[in-house]
Amino acid sequence: MSEIVKVSLGGKPHAYEIKIGHNLLNDCGDWARSCLSPVARKLAVISNPKVFSLYGDIVTDGLAAAGYQVSVWKMGDGEKHKNLRSLEKALRFFSESGLTRADGVIALGGGVVGDLTGFAASVYLRGISFLQIPTTLLSMIDSSVGGKTGVNSTFGKNLIGTFHQPNGVLIDLRTLKTLPRRELTAGFCEAAKQGAIGSPALFRRTTEFLETFPVGKLKNILGFADQVEFDSTIEKGRRPAAGQVELEKLIAAQVAFKAEIVTADERETLERSDSRSRKILNFGHTVAHALEKVTDYNYFKHGEAVGYGMLVAGEISKNVAKFDQNELNLLNHVVALTGKLPNCQQIDTEKVIKAFEFDKKNVGDNLQWILLEKIGKPLIFPNSKIPNSVIVNSVNKILKG
Ligand SMILES: NC(=O)c1ccc[n+]([C@@H]2O[C@H](COP(=O)([O-])OP(=O)(O)OC[C@H]3O[C@@H](n4cnc5c(N)ncnc54)[C@H](O)[C@@H]3O)[C@@H](O)[C@H]2O)c1
Repeated sequence: MSEIVKVSLGGKPHAYEIKIGHNLLNDCGDWARSCLSPVARKLAVISNPKVFSLYGDIVTDGLAAAGYQVSVWKMGDGEKHKNLRSLEKALRFFSESGLTRADGVIALGGGVVGDLTGFAASVYLRGISFLQIPTTLLSMIDSSVGGKTGVNSTFGKNLIGTFHQPNGVLIDLRTLKTLPRRELTAGFCEAAKQGAIGSPALFRRTTEFLETFPVGKLKNILGFADQVEFDSTIEKGRRPAAGQVELEKLIAAQVAFKAEIVTADERETLERSDSRSRKILNFGHTVAHALEKVTDYNYFKHGEAVGYGMLVAGEISKNVAKFDQNELNLLNHVVALTGKLPNCQQIDTEKVIKAFEFDKKNVGDNLQWILLEKIGKPLIFPNSKIPNSVIVNSVNKILKG
């Protein structure tokens, strides 16, 4: 049982598949063969110590069984390691592994590993093949889809990077069994975001999933908690539990939405301001980036900050974009379903508002907000058309209650 989402970019030869299912890691060797050139011999895996200790052996054994010569480098865990120093270490690792242009690299981990590995793959020998095995919910539905790669620097987050599409993405939902609760909440906030901007159907599917399978109980409901080790012999003969099927369908729908947007606007065209521009993926991000900045990037998970960002953008939308109160209630409801967000009482809202000025989504001098006219109908809205009082009141209402 698995779902496939195909991504083909603007008639270019580069098309790839995102495979989604349970217990797919066991067959990752065959999957890699199906994605890479038949002349590929070597595969370099980048992961981090935590993820590698959980899923490294099953992946490297699978790749070796498929005939690949496999090498592994474990980067440091966490956002602070997504930097130019790690990039250089990754490139040295590729070189020492003897990778040629025929070979490939694999990212095994969350968005940090994926962004760094993708960037390294895009510049090594001017670009080599790249496979993603995302292991956080956020990286499954968001960062592994769309080809944005990059690192942080002393002058800002994600300001250095490339567009480099993967040759394939393998999403094994069983890896979510070990994901901490806060990381699940962060991932579901991004899912709620994609539902809110995507369509009423995706929004409803996301809401209904979270109503049926509350985040705090997800692991038990999906039957993960009692199976700490992978056991393909048990899994293969077993019928999937209802929750597993629903989760797979939800992730496939989320991935399909993101793929649709990036297919139509791969490089986030500056001039586009329509409701299917890649910019809409930044719904909730103006406030999220500001919250992360004023808390030195060490208080919120990115997705949690997006949760607050959506609530603020919802309030502003009600005031300036005729976003209906009933729909705003639905938006607030789905954010609440994602789980508890960190307390904001200590945060200085003036500093948050000031931080909007430096949002990297600014175009020229103009800050652009992504607002909602309706669920599934986003609007790109200039900051200059929003009364300052609306912004101040909305930020205060959401962050200070
Ligand atoms: N490229 C894009 O389009 C894009 C989009 C959104 C976010 N991002 C980037 O993604 C990054 C955030 O990604 P993230 O939320 O996946 O964070 P992350 O990669 O830091 O992972 C979060 C934590 O979960 C751990 N982890 C990962 N998988 C696990 C598993 N299966 N079980 C247990 N622990 C596990 C990691 O070791 C880490 O400690 C940010 O750097 C952000 O800028 C990129």
